[in-house]
Amino acid sequence: MDRIAQLTTRPAGREIAYDPAAAPTSLHVRAAQVLEGNWTGRSTVPSRGLYPHQWSWDSAFIAIGLRHLSPLRAQTELETLLSAQWADGRVPHIVFNPSVPLDAYFPSPDFWRSSTAGRAAGAPRTVETSGIVQPPVHALAAWLVHLADPGLSRARGFLARAYPRLAAWHDYLLHRRDLGGDGLVSVVHPWEQGMDNSPCWDRPLSRVTPAPALSFRRADLDHGAPKDRPTDLDYGRYVRLAADYRDRGYADAGIGGPGRRTAAEGGGGRRAGDFAVEDPAFNALLIASEYALARIARELGAAEPPRLGRAERLTATLVERLFDPEAGMFLCRDVLAQELIPERSVSGLVPLLLPALPRDLAATLVRTMCGPHFGLGGTTRLVPSYDLLGEAFDPHRYWRGPAWFNTNWLLERGLRLHGERGRADALRKGMLHTAGASGFAEYVDPYTAQACGVTGFGWTAALTLDLLHDRPARGGNGLTAIKGEDRA
Ligand code: SER
Repeated sequence: MDRIAQLTTRPAGREIAYDPAAAPTSLHVRAAQVLEGNWTGRSTVPSRGLYPHQWSWDSAFIAIGLRHLSPLRAQTELETLLSAQWADGRVPHIVFNPSVPLDAYFPSPDFWRSSTAGRAAGAPRTVETSGIVQPPVHALAAWLVHLADPGLSRARGFLARAYPRLAAWHDYLLHRRDLGGDGLVSVVHPWEQGMDNSPCWDRPLSRVTPAPALSFRRADLDHGAPKDRPTDLDYGRYVRLAADYRDRGYADAGIGGPGRRTAAEGGGGRRAGDFAVEDPAFNALLIASEYALARIARELGAAEPPRLGRAERLTATLVERLFDPEAGMFLCRDVLAQELIPERSVSGLVPLLLPALPRDLAATLVRTMCGPHFGLGGTTRLVPSYDLLGEAFDPHRYWRGPAWFNTNWLLERGLRLHGERGRADALRKGMLHTAGASGFAEYVDPYTAQACGVTGFGWTAALTLDLLHDRPARGGNGLTAIKGEDRA
């Protein structure tokens, strides 16, 4: 059997039900080829050249697609990531592959020094990781992976082993990262939110003194065009923030507000870093994953999963703290300046995936998504990462305008969840077409669909597979799996 045939066959030997009329085989096979090419044996790299290690939220999205090819590999993907979890509960944003040369990616393991600088925070000793995190898509991914083959999952004890780690991960975020003291989670670095150089960070980042340009060498420009990537000035600030966090031993300020010296820090020692933002997408993904954790707990036999109440309370807090009626969407909050950041990013539409979002807010988000700022169904086929009318809009530069497949997948799910079937179908069609035509690009120009960044990108291929398999005609929608009976 050749490798692609192996890929499209489940381990137990059962052929995957697949309807070529509805999902062109060539797109399916090409997506499978990308995932095969990016597989390292225990996990999948986002891109062989640009991102040659394991990334946290990439792996979660990749597992969601990989489950259709091999539920076993999808389980392994998540298990590999979770095995690098720190004792304090954080799941690192990168797990480094020791066989990749140090200069292939910056910042490399010798920058993060997790096993030494992160010792007090409980970094693992046997694997090197970064010390920051990424959005918590993992419980959602674990639940969807389980559903792909519950028999295999139960036989391997997949959820029983994942659950305590996922619960500790959420506890870390909710207890150690509530820097604003209002119940929402803060990110302390733009890379944590995942939309690295979104214009939302321009204002909070302007307070950060960049690391000197000659103190590091960017490896990303070996693989990506400079016009598609963040600027050197942004990189200098990313490096400064990461180095400062590392030099504080990756210690979190805890509740009480960053900028203040906390009692736990001796009232005068360290203080929290120079960047703390409450982001709507990060928090919405945590809430979606809380629903998934409740389903996992129930599957494991817990009588009364406590997570549901928490998910609904967090949804209410998210609305109260980050929804801006004038903008018609959610905004980010700069926790240090104690103000909403007046920039429209796709992050502020992602809460559409929440089952408990009030109906009128869901309708408002859909109107905003289809209005002049994002253009869906009018000037754009995929939702751009940033306001088409924003001063900082750039159709090619990383998260400052191009359309990404993971955010569009989340919005497609959200549209379907809230009964917007026609719009969801159109978005799905646009994503499938664009993914295939762009060679599974990392991101695309939202007007022309021209490929940007790298091609053969892991989550683009994986989420293509998920859309091909989870077809609307079957009533499929990953998010109904977290809603469903839970709220009945
Ligand atoms: N996305 C960042 C990079 O470009 C880090 O996660 O390397």
